[in-house]
Formats: sequence, C-alpha cells, structure tokens
Amino acid sequence: MSWTMKQVPSQSGRIAVVTGANIGLGYETALALAGKGCTVVLACRNAAKADAARAAILAQHPKARIECLTLDLGSLKSVRAFAAAYKKRHATLDLLINNAGIMMPPYTLSEDGFESQLAANYLGHFALTGLLLPLINKTPNARIVSLSSLAHKWSGIRFHDLNATRRYDKRLAYGQSKLACLMFAYELQRRLTRAGCATLSVAAHPGVSATNLFQHLPKAVQLFAPLTELVFQSASGGAQPTLYAALGDDIRGGDYCGPQSLGEMRGAPGKVGSSRRSRDEAVAARLWAVSQELTGVRYLE
Ligand SMILES: NC(=O)c1ccc[n+]([C@@H]2O[C@H](COP(=O)([O-])OP(=O)(O)OC[C@H]3O[C@@H](n4cnc5c(N)ncnc54)[C@H](OP(=O)(O)O)[C@@H]3O)[C@@H](O)[C@H]2O)c1
Repeated sequence: MSWTMKQVPSQSGRIAVVTGANIGLGYETALALAGKGCTVVLACRNAAKADAARAAILAQHPKARIECLTLDLGSLKSVRAFAAAYKKRHATLDLLINNAGIMMPPYTLSEDGFESQLAANYLGHFALTGLLLPLINKTPNARIVSLSSLAHKWSGIRFHDLNATRRYDKRLAYGQSKLACLMFAYELQRRLTRAGCATLSVAAHPGVSATNLFQHLPKAVQLFAPLTELVFQSASGGAQPTLYAALGDDIRGGDYCGPQSLGEMRGAPGKVGSSRRSRDEAVAARLWAVSQELTGVRYLE
C-alpha cells in the first residue's frame, strides 16, 4: 500500500521550517504539516506573499500555528538574519524543509556574487542548514529534507566555473544546483553519522508538478502549463515525496524519495534511486569544502 499523510500521527508539539512556503510545493507541504498540528514557520522572501499563504492555511485549519519569517536564500546576510531570528523565538527545530528554488532564469548574480540558481537552490540552503544545525541536533527525531529533481542528471558539478561566469547554460546551471542539493543531502547524512548525531538528512523530488517553477521557460512552452497537472501531477501531489521523506516511519538517513510512476514524473511517493554521479563521495566532499569557503558557514568538518 502506498504511503499517504493519512497514516501520519499528530505532529502537535513539533516545529517545521519550510523555505519557499508561500506557493507551490512549499505551500502544500506547509499546509499538510499544519493540518497535522505541526507549528510551521513559513520562510519566504516576500512578507506579503507569506502573510497571504498564512491566511490561506488558517482558512483551512483555523487552529494551526503558523509563523512568517523573512528569508531570501539569495542573500547570505538574509540567511544569517533568519537563523538569528529563528533562534530567538525557538529552542528546537524538528523539520527543516529546504524547498525553495528557481529554474532557468536569465543570468544574474546574487548579492554575494553567486549564479542565482546556485545561490537560491543550493548555497543558501547549505548556509541555513549549518546555522540551524546546533538547534536541530538538540531536537529528538529531527530531519532535514533537501529538494532535488530529475534534473540532477543534467549536469555534473562544474568546479572550474561554478558560477557560470564563462558560459551560462541555464539548463546546466539548474541541473548543477539540483545535483548539489542531492549530493549535499547524502554528504550531510555521512557527516551526521560520523559525528554521532541522530538527525536524519534525506532528499526528495516531486517529479513534474504544476507550479510557478516554469515561469522562465519560453512562452510557447508555458502554453502547455495547464496540461501539466493532467499529464503529470498537482502541486499537492508533488509535495507527497517531501512529506514522506519528512514523516515516513520507514525513512533512513540518506534516502531519496520521489513519485513512482511514469519515469518518476508522477504517482505515489516511494524511495527512488539517483545517478552514479550523485553518489561520488570525493566530489561531495570537495563540494562541501567549496561551499564552506563560499558561504563562510563551517560545520561537521
Ligand atoms: N515543480 C516541479 O515540477 C519541480 C520538479 C523538480 C524539482 N522541483 C523543486 O521543488 C522546489 C519547489 O519548487 P516549486 O515547483 O514549488 O516552485 P514555485 O511554485 O516557483 O515555488 C518556489 C518557491 O521558492 C521561493 N524562492 C525562490 N527564490 C527564493 C529565494 N531567493 N529566497 C527564498 N525563497 C525563494 C519562491 O518565492 P517567490 O514566490 O517569492 O518567488 C517560492 O516560494 C524547488 O526546489 C524546485 O527546484 C520542482
């Protein structure tokens, strides 16, 4: 029988941070967690959009405990401010859902000088996780879920031009960022285990889900967007692998969860495999070292 949220017990007393929770998969993840009684912190870059999401969740679950805290993953200053503000409010963190992302935008650099997809999808989450980890490790049964994608197979980690300053191929840059998220999830688990920490690091991907993520694709492609939900899956369906990774009782550290039908593009959540490249421990260790240098956030060394 497939895993569903129906088999998840009350999450009352637990706290989750969901990045990019104002829309799409992040919103659906926050909504489902709130529906189980979990306190949810909506970590979003736009305060007005976060407030609207909070109101929408409360309309469905009037007793839900939802907080909004500003987080722009494209700014290390904002990531540090978010972590400091969170620590002022809370002493524990049960679930960190590293969900926010952008796909194939025109070439831009973040305020820290990183290619925008690498910054928002990966480096911001690397820094956020490190800054929150002391608190996460103090929390029993805590999990960190990192969002990857089928696109992790599109590229390797291009250490010679990580920020695509020489040549920007937006598809490769997205693939690289999603491979980095997946390698990070695996490497984080290895380092947690070595350090004797009980926190689990797991990864998830949503298949293909009808969300705003496709906003930068050519207009002609976007004409077919309404079909996405019919052929593939809804945002709610796409959130199920994340929720399974966060809450499934058979999840082990280093698991990767995704939909199980149509080449992992749709269907019920389960455990899935990933590319050989994503399992390269030497590259993962190098990526970790480079990420520490770039973000200035050092942990589990
Ligand atoms: N949809 C799919 O088919 C699919 C497939 C594979 C993987 N994924 C992954 O799933 C995750 C969620 O994507 P989605 O499909 O739900 O896309 P979405 O509907 O576009 O939502 C993306 C979320 O990320 C937020 N975000 C973007 N840049 C940010 C930044 N610098 N700081 C903070 N938040 C930021 C967005 O905020 P704003 O609303 O303010 O822009 C939004 O809340 C992403 O990691 C994506 O790579 C999605």
